[in-house]
Amino acid sequence: MGLEMSQKAINAFKKLDPDDFKILEAIERGIRAYEHVPIKIISLISGFPEDEVVFRLDKLNKLELILRWGGSYLGFELNSNGHDCLALNTLVCANVIEAIGMPIGVGKESDVYEALTPESETVVIKFHRLGRTSFRQTRRLRSYTAGRKHLSWLLESQIAARREYVALKRIYPVISSVPEPLGQNRHCVVMELIEGEELSIILEIEEPNAILTEIIEIVKTIYRSCEIIHADLSEFNILVTPEYNTIIIDWPQWANKKHPNAEAMLKRDINNVLTFFQKRFEIYEDLIKVQNFIQRG
Ligand SMILES: Nc1ncnc2c1ncn2[C@@H]1O[C@H](COP(=O)(O)OP(=O)(O)OP(=O)(O)O)[C@@H](O)[C@H]1O
Ligand SMILES: [Mg+2]
Repeated sequence: MGLEMSQKAINAFKKLDPDDFKILEAIERGIRAYEHVPIKIISLISGFPEDEVVFRLDKLNKLELILRWGGSYLGFELNSNGHDCLALNTLVCANVIEAIGMPIGVGKESDVYEALTPESETVVIKFHRLGRTSFRQTRRLRSYTAGRKHLSWLLESQIAARREYVALKRIYPVISSVPEPLGQNRHCVVMELIEGEELSIILEIEEPNAILTEIIEIVKTIYRSCEIIHADLSEFNILVTPEYNTIIIDWPQWANKKHPNAEAMLKRDINNVLTFFQKRFEIYEDLIKVQNFIQRG
């Protein structure tokens, strides 16, 4: 479902001109004050006359970027495709990316695509899509969004993208075992493309011991030097490159070392990795020993 949705946004994106983006932006701004944004307000914010606004809203509606609400008054809001287009446009205008390419991964809470930079390098753009599954999060954020569901998923996705970017920015200069962060806007993060395979799909490897040792070293450096715990570490969030470097991805839920549950989160991260290596490669390492090494050794 996720992929299909981003694909629509990507197709529509190519058909938009700068004035269409001004209308989308006006709706994005107007929605802070209105349940859905009336044409008059869109006209006011964008500076376009109302008939021009109506014409462009019709185009945006056909491209499935906005939602049209009848009822007590006619108003508009952006759907997730509309938000995707705004984020893409900002990243293109900032020369972070130039074009978007093929899908490379669909996670539980994101869509990941290849993108091209103005220097013709292939990079990754991750669209965060939170809030449809996590009830706890939604409840916590409800006060910010006055119970408006459509805003809370967006806010959560934006928070997740910012958090992931902050983590990468803090870790990458210390140890390049995470993708290099390249840019961030709204619910999107742009980062280095890692040529590698998810550890979870690797059935045989020459020196699994060396890989496990490297993962533990990376977790230790990130814990000790960056004071960061991944908090969702598993074989699904570790990529192994053809040179057998290991790269840890998927950072929105990271926690600070000083978090009250830090120790439990660190322990769970380590346990996930050790359990995987035990089951898949029959390598046994003691959880407490590894934990001690990471925290103190
Ligand atoms: N920088 C990257 N380079 C190459 N592939 C990537 C990169 N980032 C993500 N991917 C691919 O996309 C998939 C999904 O990305 P990621 O793990 O970051 O999010 P997620 O899986 O949605 O999060 P969650 O684990 O909560 O479901 C990854 O498993 C990986 O295959
Ligand atoms: Mg993942």
